[in-house]
Amino acid sequence: MGAGLLGDLPALLSRYCPAARYAVIADSHVGEVYGPRVRDEAARVAPTTLHTFTAGEWNKTRENWSLLTDQLLAARLGRDGAVLALGGGVTGDLAGFVAATLYRGISCVQIPTTLLAMIDSSVGGKTGVDTATGKNLVGAFHQPCVVIADVDTLATLPKNQLVAGMAEALKHGAVADRGYFDLLLESREQILLRDPSTLAGLVARSVEIKAGVVAEDEKEHGKRAVLNFGHTVGHAVEAASGYGLLHGEAVAIGMALEAELGVRLSVTDAADAKLLRTALERFNLPTELPAGIRADRLIDAMRHDKKSRDDRIRASLIRQIGEPARGEKGEWTTPIDDRILAGVLAAAE
Ligand SMILES: NC(=O)c1ccc[n+]([C@@H]2O[C@H](COP(=O)([O-])OP(=O)(O)OC[C@H]3O[C@@H](n4cnc5c(N)ncnc54)[C@H](O)[C@@H]3O)[C@@H](O)[C@H]2O)c1
Ligand SMILES: [Zn+2]
Repeated sequence: MGAGLLGDLPALLSRYCPAARYAVIADSHVGEVYGPRVRDEAARVAPTTLHTFTAGEWNKTRENWSLLTDQLLAARLGRDGAVLALGGGVTGDLAGFVAATLYRGISCVQIPTTLLAMIDSSVGGKTGVDTATGKNLVGAFHQPCVVIADVDTLATLPKNQLVAGMAEALKHGAVADRGYFDLLLESREQILLRDPSTLAGLVARSVEIKAGVVAEDEKEHGKRAVLNFGHTVGHAVEAASGYGLLHGEAVAIGMALEAELGVRLSVTDAADAKLLRTALERFNLPTELPAGIRADRLIDAMRHDKKSRDDRIRASLIRQIGEPARGEKGEWTTPIDDRILAGVLAAAE
């Protein structure tokens, strides 16, 4: 990770992912801005083709997985070829899943271009597509050979997308490192001005935190749950908004409300819950439910979330900023009493 890495692409590919052929996969926005450049840089190492699909979460589908797979076969990408997933988390997940399944798995390089993709979706090896029943329900674990995060690409990212990525950065601070959380608040201006060295430092620390947790629990049996702070409520809010809210915006609301839940359950420090809410607001992230989203519908959605183990809704809470909450037996999630949940959600309506 760093600034100017796209210029080093030939050297990086030769070193970390040499292949007989490359296929760059990008969405229509990123394909236009960075696609030709990445294709031409990769072509210095091996013949390279560029493939695009229409931008947007609703295009992370099996239909596009199928179309892209056929295009790669038609372009004669062999088992010794590699996919270059260039873009945000939608592209990373979709192109990563194409790489995971083509010939039962070929090499893949993640080249994230959103803050969210740099600090979150490109790390950890999860790939997949959405279905009508829900998001990310079909997929595979498929680790990239290398992740190349060039923070210079963030210069063209729309501001709401940058800020949505900050929700996940603040989450990393909240679950693992109070000093990092404080630093993010102090660097707010430089971050919003997209100062490359500030962004490079941010990406590095967030990746270190996420990779550290994933390394302990790659297939999500235990500790990886701490990364779901804000996501039990956040996923439900995201779905209830009809995906009108960005993921990071929904997670910001989720973190504010899960911190409040933690306070009511005597798990979360009250002063820290308040500080978290203030921090989110300073980045212009939402902390209340948008109009028209009803508490009872959210509870139904949470019950149907694939991550619930039994009938009870569980959430990954924090004890204080920088420290996740543990259950009595050391569990990484806390069961949530329905009435307390309903009370917190109703108060945020
Ligand atoms: N695999 C994982 O572990 C994981 C983790 C978190 C999120 N995700 C997934 O990530 C997805 C969200 O990713 P996202 O927020 O990056 O959304 P995204 O990929 O849709 O990108 C957001 C928008 O920004 C545009 N864009 C991207 N980079 C740009 C740039 N540098 N300049 C200008 N425009 C640019 C895209 O074209 C798109 O319109 C969701 O599908 C989510 O499920 C996956
Ligand atoms: Zn998230």
